[in-house]
Amino acid sequence: MSSTKTIGVLTSGDDCAGLNAVIRAVVTRAILGYGWRVLGIHQGTRGLLKRPVEFTPLDLATASTSMARSAGTILGTTNRGDPFAFPMPDGTLKDRSEEVIEGYHMLGLDGLIAIGGDGSMAVLRHLAQQGDIPLVGVPKTIDNDIGATETSVGYHTAVMVATEAIDRLQPTAASHDRVMILEVMGRDCCGHIALAAGIAGGADVILIPEIPYDLDAVAAHIKEVRHHGRNFAIVVVAEAAQDKSGELVQLSHALGGTTYGGIGHVLGEAITRRTGAEARVTVLGHVQRGGQPTWVDRLVGSAFGVYAVDLIAQGKFDRLVAWQNRRVVDMPLVAAFEPTQAIGADDALVSTARGLGICLGDR
Ligand code: F6P
Repeated sequence: MSSTKTIGVLTSGDDCAGLNAVIRAVVTRAILGYGWRVLGIHQGTRGLLKRPVEFTPLDLATASTSMARSAGTILGTTNRGDPFAFPMPDGTLKDRSEEVIEGYHMLGLDGLIAIGGDGSMAVLRHLAQQGDIPLVGVPKTIDNDIGATETSVGYHTAVMVATEAIDRLQPTAASHDRVMILEVMGRDCCGHIALAAGIAGGADVILIPEIPYDLDAVAAHIKEVRHHGRNFAIVVVAEAAQDKSGELVQLSHALGGTTYGGIGHVLGEAITRRTGAEARVTVLGHVQRGGQPTWVDRLVGSAFGVYAVDLIAQGKFDRLVAWQNRRVVDMPLVAAFEPTQAIGADDALVSTARGLGICLGDR
């Protein structure tokens, strides 16, 4: 029997910077290290639903060093269309999981490397168990909410972009005596981008979903900053932050579904009303997901990709690669979606922020 394997790689869920660095590492390690073939599946599980299945054979020419520094994902991705409840044109939801599994087996693959976030990984693991798919997961998300790994691919770049935005807002805030509010991403429990960038950028107030805020406390802090002679203030707010009433600010979309967005404007109005200061709002949005990956995301992505291929070579499946204590480790794939990595009250960065006199909205 030939020892030459063919493996698949796909990206699933929201894109972020560093995905191509992982793909490039997977291709390079599989070809140079083991002499295998690599097929890049298009648009996550969507490519496996198509007939013929949509994929591209990936070779060393594709997997150039330029690829590691490029943004987005060369394979495409999707954060819609759960195969277990796939939205059909007539508005119903259909279980199409067997079609995806059939698509996978049509390719004659010996294993699959999926680069995804918590939601994607839960779906893919379900498919793998149902369809006997040897699966290895690589964590990616700007939100950095995957508990098993200290960092996920994409997080560092998003923090870098948000920090740079604060650096750019600070001089214009000072020039105009304004309160500048920067709304950053971070779904549900996740204030990691806001907290890290807020500290790095020197924000006065950082509001995260994990710490419900009190508008009076925020306004009091801004007044105090101004009272002590500084004419401007910087507020960083995670999109899912909420006040003590627990009310979330969300947007509905014409194609269906809701996303976060808008808390910055709500806050800006409220701050002006309470402090009399002129406020302006910047919503950073998807800028945090695009752009060249930082060196950290390239490095972590490369290490993850190589390690994931080595796991397949060792016959280790249903595993998640993760970054812990300056090295790559692997653990059961369920660790990708439980527990979630929220910021705890005793988090080191919460203490750092409080130590720097930054208001976290609760006091
Ligand atoms: O999960 C990553 C993320 O960027 C979140 O921070 C954000 O809420 C969401 O995706 C946005 O999703 P979409 O691209 O569908 O607007």
